[in-house]
Amino acid sequence: MLIFLDTANMEEIRQAARLGVVSGITTNPSLVAKERAGDYRAVVREIASIIPGPISAEVLNLETAQGIVRDAREVASWAPNVVVKIPITAAGLEAASALAREGVRTNLTLCFSANQALLAARVGAAYVSPFVGRLDDAGHDGMAVVADIVEIYKRYSFPTQVIAASIRHPMHCVAAAKAGADISTVPYKVLRQMIEHPLTDVGIARFAQDWEQVSAALASRAAL
Ligand code: E4P
Repeated sequence: MLIFLDTANMEEIRQAARLGVVSGITTNPSLVAKERAGDYRAVVREIASIIPGPISAEVLNLETAQGIVRDAREVASWAPNVVVKIPITAAGLEAASALAREGVRTNLTLCFSANQALLAARVGAAYVSPFVGRLDDAGHDGMAVVADIVEIYKRYSFPTQVIAASIRHPMHCVAAAKAGADISTVPYKVLRQMIEHPLTDVGIARFAQDWEQVSAALASRAAL
């Protein structure tokens, strides 16, 4: 399972890129707004220059399929690794279907059911993003939806990749990997939580302490 970072924060993206574990980025209008960066295109271009993998950037015009297609062509032209994120609606599916025929890669987002994911695969989306945390918040089993989608895609050999999104904590990531998601897109905080473990810190401190004792003993023996 690949790890994408779910953020529009340049510092987080730079730090994660240095770790070498991040294969792509997902953004959404809320994440971009949080950074108070005025120029959406500039933000997406900068991200795309830092991370060579797929960068999901969302369309903002959702009125009609034609409007989405127009917006999507524009967003896709910002960088070769940009994937256009489109909410799953009737207009979104119609647009994604037309875009697939043009070779524009899409990530169908705000997916909350296996049926929506089935339709995303039928229109030739490159990715589908089931929102695990938001489903859990609404009293559903978000990861069960991911598992259903993975099972259906596997049975019919759909090439659409499953991005487990709306990841809230490290165990979501473990469960997504066990469910067979192709990708988990995680906030920077969750990535840090995946790295850190108190026993790793305790182990490092103990090794350092033991090593100091041995070094001190060797030094005093050499001084005799
Ligand atoms: C994914 O593409 C979305 O940007 C994201 O995972 C949404 O997460 P949230 O439910 O924490 O806002």
